[in-house]
Amino acid sequence: MTAKNKHILSLRRGWSRLERWANRAYTPVYNPLYHLGAIGVFLIWVLIISGIYLFIFYEISVTGAYASVLYLTQDQWYLGGIIRSLHHYGADLLVMATVLHLIHTLVTDRYRYWRWVAWVSGIALLWIIWISGIFGYWMVWDRRAQLVATLSAEMLGKVPIFGQPLSLDLSSNSALSNQLFYIVLFIHFSTPVVFFILLWIHVKRIAKAKVNPPARLSWGIIGLILFLSLIRPARLGLRADLGRLPGAIPFDWFYLYIYPSLKYISASSLWAVIIASTIFVSALPWMGRNRRPPAPEVAAANCVGCEQCMMDCPYEAIFMEPRRNGFPAAKILSKNCAGCGVCEGSCDYRAINLPHFEEGVIKDKVLRLSQELKAGGMHPTVFTFVCARGVELNDILKDMAWTKVVSVPCIGMLKPSIAAIPIETGVHGVFIAGCQTGDCHYRFGNEWLAQRLEGIRHPAPDWDFDHFRIRLAGFSKVEAEDFLTMLNRFRSEMQERGMHG
Ligand code: HEM
Repeated sequence: MTAKNKHILSLRRGWSRLERWANRAYTPVYNPLYHLGAIGVFLIWVLIISGIYLFIFYEISVTGAYASVLYLTQDQWYLGGIIRSLHHYGADLLVMATVLHLIHTLVTDRYRYWRWVAWVSGIALLWIIWISGIFGYWMVWDRRAQLVATLSAEMLGKVPIFGQPLSLDLSSNSALSNQLFYIVLFIHFSTPVVFFILLWIHVKRIAKAKVNPPARLSWGIIGLILFLSLIRPARLGLRADLGRLPGAIPFDWFYLYIYPSLKYISASSLWAVIIASTIFVSALPWMGRNRRPPAPEVAAANCVGCEQCMMDCPYEAIFMEPRRNGFPAAKILSKNCAGCGVCEGSCDYRAINLPHFEEGVIKDKVLRLSQELKAGGMHPTVFTFVCARGVELNDILKDMAWTKVVSVPCIGMLKPSIAAIPIETGVHGVFIAGCQTGDCHYRFGNEWLAQRLEGIRHPAPDWDFDHFRIRLAGFSKVEAEDFLTMLNRFRSEMQERGMHG
């Protein structure tokens, strides 16, 4: 393994540990790390609603801007002041959620191939948030806004279309025009529109995108920003005065952190750094790519046109195409396809198969290993299926002769008829280890399989044995110990229930 791969792997493990900690604190259903994109959308709504209230009182003029914010902060502290603080903390939290969302997709390797559209549009979303935030600070027109305005003018001065008029406007108090405040407001207000257009592109290839966090989590977020607003309301500095230097302002971790670097490098060099890093990060999906997992093949003659594969696909990669006989058949849109095999698990007619993981090949392998397990004479025996994106087993099962393991690209490619083979062959139990509960690498693998096993999603089980003999659980990469504990506990349960003959 190269040094670079080792670093990536330790980052992934580190993130998995953080998720594990958050799972314990919040449970997988409410773990904020699993809803970062949806939290971003929720915060935009908070910003829009609080922003509309602030706009009602905001005066768009050189003299009125600061006075109206002062009125909201001091005279109307009980409502306007709190809403201003909600707007402020909501915006900070939005940057935090978005940056964590970026880190999550990066370290869990969810940014390549078909996901490049989400990745590149995500970078654009991040830019829109920053631009909106910078102009938001400007609108307040206090000393911080003055510094933001002069430094932004220095930066924009390097962009030919903005340069001259802006620096002239900011040269003295008398040169400042109301028109400038209209432009700033227009930019700050138009960003939500651009945001939603980009968001539409962002989730275009994602089926059933989760754009709303669970209700309890949303209330928790509101509670958190309300709490912050009450204990530390958003501040307002002295009125901006272009005849004086703005003086020192506190460092801002969320929106204005690039400006202090203008002390050390020129505006042109800062532009070069910003542009180069944006290009570099945007190009990540095309760097160091391994071979893309192949798309499944459709055996049209077997397809009954039931649409289950289309409904289950996590990435809008399947559509139904009419055939000559009038009945539709599944068709794969390979540019969107993840090669996860979830569709293979949806199909009860052997009409859709991943190359190298065809249903027939998997069934033969499971049958052969089950027969070997039975012949081994250990009691009770447990057949184990694991998701290749889940727990890192290494050699932990090497000395356990009572189990055999089959790894699949996504646990969602299993279906009840495959899970039942070991038991029909005489194995006592089947343990299925999906990837992280609540954060399936292919989005729905764990959920769809659980529903199929429960009989509430097609293909449903048709078993004549006790259902407790099949157990499904989810584990992240770093949860080998939990995996082992649950596997052993499951085996003990089999023993207690008399499964040892
Ligand atoms: C405020 C800004 C953003 C919002 C509101 C947002 C929202 C979302 C949402 C709702 C999803 C779908 C989640 C799901 O259903 O599984 C998503 C997926 C995704 N986002 Fe973002 N996102 C934002 C910024 C970013 C950024 C900055 C990046 C990275 C550069 C990014 C990369 C991705 C990727 C790669 C996916 C696909 C993940 C997968 O396929 O499992 N997003 N985003």
